[in-house]
Amino acid sequence: MDIKEVKKNAREKMKGFCNVCNECNGIWCAGKVPGMGGCGTGDSFKRNYNKLKRIRLILKTIHSAKNPILETSLWGEKLSFPGIIAPITGASYNFGNAVNEKEYANNVINGAVDAGTIGMVGDGGDPTYLELGLKAIKKAGGKGVAIIKPRDNEEIIKRIKMAEEAGAVAVGIDIDGAGLLTMALYNQPVGPKSFKDLKTLVDSTDLPFIVKGILSVEEAKLCQRAGVDTIVVSNHGGRVLDDTLAPCEVLNEIVKEVGYKVNILVDGAARNGGDILKYLALGAKGVLIGRPIIWGAVGGGQEGVKIILEQFKNELYKNMILTGCEETTNISPRIIHEFILD
Ligand SMILES: Cc1cc2nc3c(=O)[nH]c(=O)nc-3n(C[C@H](O)[C@H](O)[C@H](O)COP(=O)(O)O)c2cc1C
Repeated sequence: MDIKEVKKNAREKMKGFCNVCNECNGIWCAGKVPGMGGCGTGDSFKRNYNKLKRIRLILKTIHSAKNPILETSLWGEKLSFPGIIAPITGASYNFGNAVNEKEYANNVINGAVDAGTIGMVGDGGDPTYLELGLKAIKKAGGKGVAIIKPRDNEEIIKRIKMAEEAGAVAVGIDIDGAGLLTMALYNQPVGPKSFKDLKTLVDSTDLPFIVKGILSVEEAKLCQRAGVDTIVVSNHGGRVLDDTLAPCEVLNEIVKEVGYKVNILVDGAARNGGDILKYLALGAKGVLIGRPIIWGAVGGGQEGVKIILEQFKNELYKNMILTGCEETTNISPRIIHEFILD
């Protein structure tokens, strides 16, 4: 199987849900939530793509970066490259049940292990989604991360204990899911957290605690004060609020303020290894990959996920040679240029 076949299969299997566009930029699927798109006008998703595209890589070929080192480490785990699988749930209503929830969780957790990196599992209106993800993590010897919806603290802590029991390497919440109506429809209420709530969650576990869905310096500082291990700068792939800033617009500012104390990851419209490199140049320690992994899992199962990750890895390697980067843990901001006027 190759990447063309994976995408072709995915396009056929996700008809009506995802077109697997050559440019996955949020236009075709605008407003399709549930579905694969961004919410409302789809502008937050489109902005993630367009603003990242506006950042250009500076070609450099007089240097000694002949054999770049891609490896990095996070939460005590060695990763073959700083690409991590984003948490995704709702196979039936988001991508037409082309694979079911259990298959999806197994494909991403095992596909990530096969590619030498790590996958996250998510939580949804149906509580069995997280349970299936945790089962996949447990079966993989704990190689995975659980991201829980911002439910009541008591409910979250119950699920943190389940993640500990499954052996997960880290645990966290997608705090930007605080307004999700789909959760209320399933009678699974979610909401924002006070500083005290957040600190209680961090203190409830010895596992590294992740907060996914931060888009401001102010809230990044609150996370740092609460003892959060890792922040994911993210707008949930543009799926929770119309007209937000794109993660790449706020990432560097957040890194400058709290990056010396907190691991900063990012996601949003990373579509190839060059996008990973741009995010690293803006100061991220790692990048979550969302929609392209769905194509892999649907179009080629566990192998499809590995193929997608290997493609990102190969592109990153080539891009590092052509920008003069020796190692992913030390990427200079001087390899990117941002066009302000377009
Ligand atoms: C269909 C779909 C389902 C998602 N489900 C979840 C989820 O259950 N939990 C979560 O934290 N994020 C969820 N996300 C957001 C992703 O984790 C990630 O933030 C986003 O997809 C990154 O953007 P990208 O897809 O453009 O790479 C979902 C995204 C999509 C497209």
